[in-house]
Amino acid sequence: MTEEPKPPATTTDSGIPAESDEHSLTLGPGGPILLQDHYLIEQMAQFNRERVPERQPHAKGSGAFGHFEVTSDVSRFTKAAVFQPGAKTPMAARFSTVAGERGSPDTWRDPRGFALKFYTPEGNYDLVGNNTPVFFIKDPLKFQHFIRSQKRRADSNLRDHDMQWDFWTLSPESAHQVTWLMGDRGIPRTWRHMNGYSSHTYLWVNAAGEKFWVKYHFKTDQGIEFFTQHEADQMASADTDYHTRDLFEAIARGDYPSWTLHVQVMPFEDAKTYRFNPFDLTKVWPHGDYPLIEVGRMTLDRNPTDHHTEIEQAAFEPNNLVPGIGPSPDRMLLGRLFAYADAHRYRIGANYKQLPVNTPVAPVHSYSKDGSMRYAKVSDPVYAPNSKGGPRADTERYGTPAGWHADGEMVRSAYVDHAEDDDWGQAGTLVRDVLDDAARERLVDNIVGHLLNGVTEPVLKRAFEYWHNVDKDLGDRVESGVRAKQNEKDPKAAEQANPARESMQRKA
Ligand code: NDP
Ligand code: HEM
Repeated sequence: MTEEPKPPATTTDSGIPAESDEHSLTLGPGGPILLQDHYLIEQMAQFNRERVPERQPHAKGSGAFGHFEVTSDVSRFTKAAVFQPGAKTPMAARFSTVAGERGSPDTWRDPRGFALKFYTPEGNYDLVGNNTPVFFIKDPLKFQHFIRSQKRRADSNLRDHDMQWDFWTLSPESAHQVTWLMGDRGIPRTWRHMNGYSSHTYLWVNAAGEKFWVKYHFKTDQGIEFFTQHEADQMASADTDYHTRDLFEAIARGDYPSWTLHVQVMPFEDAKTYRFNPFDLTKVWPHGDYPLIEVGRMTLDRNPTDHHTEIEQAAFEPNNLVPGIGPSPDRMLLGRLFAYADAHRYRIGANYKQLPVNTPVAPVHSYSKDGSMRYAKVSDPVYAPNSKGGPRADTERYGTPAGWHADGEMVRSAYVDHAEDDDWGQAGTLVRDVLDDAARERLVDNIVGHLLNGVTEPVLKRAFEYWHNVDKDLGDRVESGVRAKQNEKDPKAAEQANPARESMQRKA
């Protein structure tokens, strides 16, 4: 019989051998615990400080590591090192729900975060997208309000469909995303079985300084699969962490998930005259106008070994853009360029970029110094410009700035509309042209079920109007579905809620 190897001796965090794993230091077996038991105190004090604040949105999630390999030549559109032929870049990914807290069920109906960090030779490139190509709003001033409407009430601390629909129906620009969310893809079967999208438009710049607008589509190689509402409800109680478990177990057994990246590329000048505003986050660019162009494949093949240091403290931020990639005039994206790093300084600490998961493979020569928990040393000179050999910005490296011409008075206004911009059109196309009869039936059921869960008049009436605007037939089915169920439950209340319709029905 071979002997088990002896485990290492427990130590304190200072490396001093611990006297016991089990017994505190007391004055005799029945006496008080002594303050000098610094090991006991260290254990208790560290435990009290184990949590960092959870992410404000996207608190529940998990992730993995892998690489991105370029398979097609897109160097005519961008000079970014990560997308050059032959490049293979290590990366991190985190998937999440939006509204739920850290312990909430993975299978709630919600968009899924699709956050990626590419450790490129030119610094970290983060693409912080979702599994949906559009979003609920188009101005960052509404984001905080939108997220509050999805989270909990002030009085009862309960989530509340009434406030969700109140916000949505007063924000008609949400219609496309809400249609998407209430459809099959609103609850992916696993994170492996969903697509990821940049959602935003970005700017690419090639080596010659030519500019292009792009949208990213990461298509799952596992195929799209979803849960029905009923399946998801069952799973929420059977296994709260189903998606987290699925990803971890798939990678552990060597079944590595992958996604093929495609981009839609719009010539720079098209943006002004395109039929939709190409920077409006509530719109897609129809594939017929801008077809998908393959770029490469992302594969996840390594699990975290410590969720806290590698995933919870991972800091994904849309402001991490690299030479060859820039933002677009999408106001949501521009707002996000501030929000994330600010959240990280609060949530993790001023020196969060020194944690291994956030550290670039590219060398860092910044002038940032000091701050809580900093350990990377700085050296003189600590200012620029200097004549003492300190780092100097390589102004040639970026070449043409990744930007656009802007001029005008300061205003607070909506975007300038393009010919076919409206809040309902693309949502209606999804319902009529993309979904089949069975998917439309499930869409109606999902909306009716959601509305019956605490939505009150007059929000309910606005919701019927909202769906009529998306598609008349869909609106009729939603309205009659809700009224029929209300009637079954409480005919008197249903009649009071909608006397006109009831009397019309009686006449008919
Ligand atoms: P296409 O017919 O070329 O594309 C339709 C898209 O819809 C495909 O990307 C498909 O994804 C996706 N899709 C299929 N089923 C669903 C579903 N239940 N929920 C959400 N998306 C689904 O048409 P267009 O490009 O002209 O777009 C038509 C509509 O499709 C848009 O208004 C938009 O709502 C939706 N859509 C468009 C996308 C785009 O970037 N153009 C991206 C995703 C959705 P897949 O190929 O993976 O099956
Ligand atoms: C997380 C702000 C819109 C995707 C977050 C966080 C903040 C935030 C503060 C928490 C970050 C952290 O603590 O690490 C905003 C603001 C938005 C916005 C102000 C609009 C103005 C969007 C949009 C998308 C998106 C449009 C997708 C296209 C994500 C994802 C995460 C996240 C995926 C989780 C990242 C992770 O896994 O760590 N957002 N967000 N957000 N957001 Fe946004």
